[in-house]
Amino acid sequence: MMFEKLTDVGKQFRLKGQFYAYDTIKNGNINSTYKVTYKEDDGSLKSYIIQKINTSVFHNPEDIMENIDHVTEHIREHYPDEISLHFHHTADGKNYMYDDDGSFWRVMNYVDSITFDTCDDLAIISATGEAFGHFQMQLADFDGSILHETIPEFHNTHNRLDKLFDDVAANKLGRNESCEAEIEYISAVRYKAGQLSERYSNGDFPVRVTHNDTKANNVLFDRITKRPLVVIDLDTVMPGMAMYDFGDAVRFICNTAAEDEPDVRRVYFDTSKFRAFCKGYLGAVHGALTKDELDSLVLATFSITIELASRFLDDYLTGDKYFKVNYPGHNLIRTRTQIQLAKDIMRKHEELEWIVEETIKEHR
Ligand SMILES: Nc1ncnc2c1ncn2[C@@H]1O[C@H](COP(=O)(O)OP(=O)(O)O)[C@@H](O)[C@H]1O
Ligand SMILES: [Mg+2]
Repeated sequence: MMFEKLTDVGKQFRLKGQFYAYDTIKNGNINSTYKVTYKEDDGSLKSYIIQKINTSVFHNPEDIMENIDHVTEHIREHYPDEISLHFHHTADGKNYMYDDDGSFWRVMNYVDSITFDTCDDLAIISATGEAFGHFQMQLADFDGSILHETIPEFHNTHNRLDKLFDDVAANKLGRNESCEAEIEYISAVRYKAGQLSERYSNGDFPVRVTHNDTKANNVLFDRITKRPLVVIDLDTVMPGMAMYDFGDAVRFICNTAAEDEPDVRRVYFDTSKFRAFCKGYLGAVHGALTKDELDSLVLATFSITIELASRFLDDYLTGDKYFKVNYPGHNLIRTRTQIQLAKDIMRKHEELEWIVEETIKEHR
């Protein structure tokens, strides 16, 4: 069944040779990913990645593929000697196809590599920072504003906070009582957390290409040297603020606990991991960001943490419709974790600013 489907998709994308084998890759969490291998005429084996896009998550896959085309072609043109992603085209020149069931497919080059789902190894964290910094640097001269905003207002923190407080005022489900402290905290930091996105809306920061899913498992690493090879998972590439990509990466990597850790005493922002990520990121992005952007990295980390806290809390107040919950109050637990993290970031902000400054100096 799957064999036939993949053979058919391969044919549409004009992959050369005889279909030889396929493997299901299970470590993504959104799309269905397969490694397929073809035997070419000279007997050599060549592999590709075939992906079926999850269209219940991504409603506008054609816009996504247009964004991906722009970004990958820019990188391929300017960095021809580096490992990069290349998406194949069908006979009618598209980098995607629909099958008879209406499923949405794409094909790219396979990069022999490993990924890390979670990691405590500072060298890997630094290499992850390097990969995302390099990605930003490669696209520094690309006009982000030509990309589709495939998830409109994704990181418009001040709008998200406005919406939260509208829903607090409405208190439709009567849940406010169970989260007064959380509402109060977010209310106290509302202005601070919304500041950067407000300035971005006013045109104060460059419109960058942002990745928006800067997790370690979206970087491919060399199996032996553990050097970063290439950034993948470009489905959420959009115009945005460079420092929010940075902030979201460290928000996730430097958290000492899971995003739904019920015991907030376990939640800390790990400064050693922050230093490691900064070392890789700032070394690679070197010179591509403005002083204003560099000065905002720590505030962006705080802002995106509050943004996520407010999204969890808003979902809790309005009936858990967006984030999947495993038990009642799951979204409130997630809110508390992010708030705890934000508080720790605030407590440590001078140290974090200092780490950023020192790291920049080292790379000057
Ligand atoms: N070009 C590629 N070469 C090798 N492995 C890949 C490639 N693209 C994706 N993968 C593997 O498949 C996994 C899922 O792919 P990804 O694009 O991140 O999908 P998802 O959106 O489901 O996370 C990755 O974590 C990686 O292990
Ligand atoms: Mg992924």
